[in-house]
Amino acid sequence: MQGKRVWQCGALVLGVLCLLMVSCRDEETQERMASIRIGISLYQGEDTFINNLCSLLEEKAKEFEQERGIKVILDIQDAKGSQNIQNDQVERFISLGCDVLCINPVDRMDASVMIDRAMTAGVPVVFFNRQPVEEDMNRWDRLYYVGVDAKETAILQGQMVVDLYREEPRAVDLNGDGVVSYVLLEGETSHQDSLIRTEWSVRTLKNGGVPIEKITGGIANWERSQASALMEEWLTDYPDMIELVVSNNDDMALGAIDAMERAGGHGMNVIGIDGTTPGLEALEKGKLLGTVSANKELYASVIVELAASCALGEGLPEGYPLEEGTYYWTPQEILIQTIKEN
Ligand code: GAL
Repeated sequence: MQGKRVWQCGALVLGVLCLLMVSCRDEETQERMASIRIGISLYQGEDTFINNLCSLLEEKAKEFEQERGIKVILDIQDAKGSQNIQNDQVERFISLGCDVLCINPVDRMDASVMIDRAMTAGVPVVFFNRQPVEEDMNRWDRLYYVGVDAKETAILQGQMVVDLYREEPRAVDLNGDGVVSYVLLEGETSHQDSLIRTEWSVRTLKNGGVPIEKITGGIANWERSQASALMEEWLTDYPDMIELVVSNNDDMALGAIDAMERAGGHGMNVIGIDGTTPGLEALEKGKLLGTVSANKELYASVIVELAASCALGEGLPEGYPLEEGTYYWTPQEILIQTIKEN
């Protein structure tokens, strides 16, 4: 009789324990479902365009949180231009249990170590802005890329000058000698955007009938101070010759403007790319002739929504068509001064 009671008690305790375990596991799953952790690594936090985009990522993550009632924990790290630091950051994100990674690779040709780690841990990756090589992107179907089509950017950049030239040639050929003498500021050589932007901007100008002639050019790695130093030299070496400054991005265009202002100001045209906050200010003040701006709100939304859907194991967000199921190309537009003040 006593043995039976002991057995009954034991069964009861076991039952209660099982129930407790099941409910704990449910709570754990619910907690996991109610929050997602995204590890973000930036190639260089000081880069103006990346900085602008990063603020929008934070904004869009908050919006997602409010709309979906799912907590989004962002762990944002700056790789400060070092691929080794970025590899360590990826390692750390994975050990912290990040559900998904958003990576702006330092060296787009060397994303394989990060991809290896992510694949082994089963953590999907949304790359952005610096496009890993195709061979790497094809290694796993849980790798995505969000960026801007560099050729389209460049054609738009060239087109804004072509349109202006057709409307009013003297607004571009400032000295009226039938030739538009230009200098060119280029971004990092290893970046997919630099070469394509340079090639297609110049081609568009030529094909559009602008009689351009290159004075000189140089690599300023997207940086305002480097561009400013180059432009300072060029203003000395080619006095009163430069009519147009074609820059691969806004920051370098602003560097050229800094040098022009130090040299006492000049009416030459400067065109950039990005539509960054300081770029748009310069546009408004009439210092920058124009820029090409990607829809950065959308750019950031797609990164966040794509990452969140990967983390939650949902289907990819509808409304954002992914080319080959992998690539999202953000739309962009020309922003140009309405009245060109010479
Ligand atoms: C480019 C952008 C540059 C710089 C670079 C960094 O797309 O135009 O300003 O931010 O990306 O990868």
